[in-house]
Amino acid sequence: MTLIPPKEGWVWQKVATDEKGWVAVATFVCFFLFFWMIGWHSFGRQNPSNITYRASVPEYLELYNAYLENNQVGEDNGLPVVAPEPGSHVFFTARMWQWAPVVLLKKGETYTFHLYSLDLLHGFSLQPVNMNFMVYPGYDYVLRFTPTEAGEYKIFCNEFCGIGHHMMIGKIIVAANDQEYQKILQAYESEYFEDEGGEVVEQEGEE
Ligand code: CUA
Repeated sequence: MTLIPPKEGWVWQKVATDEKGWVAVATFVCFFLFFWMIGWHSFGRQNPSNITYRASVPEYLELYNAYLENNQVGEDNGLPVVAPEPGSHVFFTARMWQWAPVVLLKKGETYTFHLYSLDLLHGFSLQPVNMNFMVYPGYDYVLRFTPTEAGEYKIFCNEFCGIGHHMMIGKIIVAANDQEYQKILQAYESEYFEDEGGEVVEQEGEE
């Protein structure tokens, strides 16, 4: 068909009825999807950050360091470990090429995450729940998170950020119940506070 040029004047020939029908269907789908983009904000299963603050690196680091000072309970592969109270704020930092700290949470409790990049664009991809987020430098992104499954979650950086990008993997541990939570917490604490020369730090586990 394409090898033979069409008869002259084909442009002016009438369009067949079924063809008109398909054009109408395609047009309708285009318009429907275009306007439905607004609909996804209400009906889509997405996790946008509705709260974002502008913060400079020194400003955020001040918060972050104070947070670690008051909440660090251990160390995991050189990264600080925190065990935030349910309902509390958790401060994360992304940098080339790590997500810190390691966080111990309880299943079914809600936490408020703060995500901040100290250098360039990183990604916060929480698996296996598949919560994906872009973290631009200069902003404190606030996200609410309620883990519904216990286990070890990973934070993958899903924005290319240099040679160590593929190694930029953070960790969130979700305990199934209080018992498991205390067990993990104590394992971290015993190692960590022992390292500090047996110094006794007031760090009472809740309940
Ligand atoms: Cu950070 Cu890729």
